[in-house]
Amino acid sequence: MDEDDTSIPEAAPAPLVIDVEFVEKEISSPQFEELGQAEIREPLNLPRAEKTHAGKARVVSVINQKGGVAKTTTVINVATHLAINGVKVLVIDCDSQGNCATGFGIDKSRIRYGTRTLMTSPEDSIRARHATAIENLHLIVGDRSLVGIEDELVSQLGRERLLSEGLEPLLPHYDLILIDTPPSLGLVSINALVASDAVVIPVQTEYFALEGLALLASTIREIRHRLNPRLGVDAVIMTMHAPTLLNGQVAAQVRETFPDLVVDPPIRRNIRLAEAPSHGTPIHIHAPKSAGGQDYANLSNALKELWGFGEKNE
Ligand SMILES: Nc1ncnc2c1ncn2[C@@H]1O[C@H](COP(=O)(O)OP(=O)(O)OP(=O)(O)O)[C@@H](O)[C@H]1O
Ligand SMILES: [Mg+2]
Repeated sequence: MDEDDTSIPEAAPAPLVIDVEFVEKEISSPQFEELGQAEIREPLNLPRAEKTHAGKARVVSVINQKGGVAKTTTVINVATHLAINGVKVLVIDCDSQGNCATGFGIDKSRIRYGTRTLMTSPEDSIRARHATAIENLHLIVGDRSLVGIEDELVSQLGRERLLSEGLEPLLPHYDLILIDTPPSLGLVSINALVASDAVVIPVQTEYFALEGLALLASTIREIRHRLNPRLGVDAVIMTMHAPTLLNGQVAAQVRETFPDLVVDPPIRRNIRLAEAPSHGTPIHIHAPKSAGGQDYANLSNALKELWGFGEKNE
């Protein structure tokens, strides 16, 4: 082949936009009043989860394969608020990014047994738990050792049930096990769903928010059908909500899509929530009176009531 044939033509220069003022402002013209028709508007009928077996922790996965929708923020802050209020909570970080450890101020580089241990040597489950600075709240750390686990386990029999088996000995010791999941629907997330009684789905009230939800819904139905008949949905929560027309319209669509499952009001976008992890402290310690602190306190109280912890811990 002629050497010249392997070269590719130079990229055409992109048109430059000059002198545009980048100011965030709302455009209100009739053509923007309604969002397009491309999104899901049909209700996505998902089963509600059943009650937990007596004497065992309720296992709840916070899941949405879309990245950056506040899964980890929700896990950290709901777990903290409930633990402060006397609920015995174990957080399991199934994400190799390991953000839960950072959010609780734990140095994950010094952790020996973590979520990987739970999945690969269930006999060591008990040793994988670590205490946090918050009473009643333990953490199983996720870290880089989870990278590649999906490929390693591909030929293992019963690979979808590994987390469930690792969790079994821990169930009698907690009221709630809250699982943070990675932004994918791979084997680790499937393990989380198989191990769970219920899911909580955070949805950011932004334009692409609804696009992946049909896939998530069909994954939940499939797991229920084939692997875990108990699995259901406890709540859909709206996150990072700002008082704009667009956010309001997406919120309305989320309510239409999950008429019985949405917990209102949405969690507001709030800088204190974004900065709390950099201090290694949950919002209820960093800035409990902030809008974010109040919103997560309200959400946690609603979930506490739904899960029946109030009656148990009074
Ligand atoms: N209500 C909020 N207001 C402002 N910032 C927020 C809010 N909730 C979350 N954030 C910030 O948004 C970013 C994404 O949140 P988070 O890490 O919780 O999402 P995630 O769904 O866990 O992401 P990933 O899919 O990567 O695991 C973080 O920087 C977090 O601090
Ligand atoms: Mg996360």
